[in-house]
Amino acid sequence: MAKIVLGVSSSIAIYKACDLIRALQKRNHEVQVVMTSKATQFISPHLFQALTAKPVLVNLFGEREAERLEHINLARQTELLLIAPATANIIAKMATGIADDFLSTFYLAVECPVIVAPAMNEAMYLHPRTQANLAELYRQGVVICEPEKGYLACGEEGWGRLAEIETIVDLAQKVLASREKWKNKKILITAGPTREPIDPVRFISNRSSGKMGYELAQEGRRRGAEVILISGPTSLPSPYKVKVIRVETANEMKREVEKYFDEVEVIIMAAAVADFRPAEVMNSKWKKTQGVPEIKFVLTEDILGYLMVHPLRQEKIIVGFAAETENLEAEAKKKLKEKGLDLIVANNISCPGIGFEADFNDVLILDRYGQQIHSGIKSKREISQLIFEAIEAYREKLT
Ligand code: CTP
Repeated sequence: MAKIVLGVSSSIAIYKACDLIRALQKRNHEVQVVMTSKATQFISPHLFQALTAKPVLVNLFGEREAERLEHINLARQTELLLIAPATANIIAKMATGIADDFLSTFYLAVECPVIVAPAMNEAMYLHPRTQANLAELYRQGVVICEPEKGYLACGEEGWGRLAEIETIVDLAQKVLASREKWKNKKILITAGPTREPIDPVRFISNRSSGKMGYELAQEGRRRGAEVILISGPTSLPSPYKVKVIRVETANEMKREVEKYFDEVEVIIMAAAVADFRPAEVMNSKWKKTQGVPEIKFVLTEDILGYLMVHPLRQEKIIVGFAAETENLEAEAKKKLKEKGLDLIVANNISCPGIGFEADFNDVLILDRYGQQIHSGIKSKREISQLIFEAIEAYREKLT
């Protein structure tokens, strides 16, 4: 049972909000409705008040004395903010931080998870501005309950129909459950490539973009964990509410991992750490007139190798990655065992369009108990969810 605030905005799908309230109450949740003022032109707040036995909040500076600071008090108590149906307008306001009514102000005040279930005409939903706003909300940690394709209230067929009530409620249950699982837990994630300098202007690196690690960081945060992201050089923006530590070399990455290792419970080594670095870094730029340099390479420090012999190793769940061009399963099993990992995520980097630099991946997730998940080709965002599900399932086996 959770305290849920249901934000209702002025989509024609508003009539479904009544069923949604009932479905949430059936699962024993306490529902408080907040409406936008335009929504009150579709349905009277009295209806929601009757269903929830609570006054509906609409205005920031309402008539009731209590309403004036309500958004702060209510924000502290709320365990889930669910906005359904969500119009293009409320999505745009949330994305940009406009706070001109109770609901949009409330969004800025809450610390709890937020789910948005859009409902609008297809052209509005697919408009690049709306899509960009939804992407921004995702970056801010909001869970998007994607609309479905079907008959729309405007008389057209298309994308934009509010997700089924059961889908929304199931998602709410899932979000609340994962919050419980990750409450007060810290995760350390490494991401991106490392850069190993040759001279002041040159380095060797690899093709990792950091996308997988950054998606994992966002997913961890969305599930309610505290996330520390140690990132090699990438062009990606820092995920919202994630502590990002930027490093360049394998050595620097190792130093930061060491620093935070004690305080975290889960470590996900998604970084493509360089295996070799030039034995010597030249102090000044190597000039062409000096001829072709002969560079001697040495191995970088093995970060996972260091973690595995750490005295606190047994208290942690360590997830490694493996980038392979052939024999994916056999290599993954070998690395899982040899490196003493709890889980391994192996990706095939030989197929164009997936893996390094791509938005998609195709991975095999193995755990120490023989559990195997083959993702198939999916977005890195979806794969990050699968990885977290695998970690959660593994954790349950440990308890
Ligand atoms: N890794 C690490 N320290 C390094 C190199 C890699 O901790 N110096 C980690 C990576 O972050 C990844 C895992 O080791 O989680 C496996 O990396 P991968 O390059 O696939 O495997 P290697 O052990 O380096 O083996 P090889 O390159 O020979 O396949």
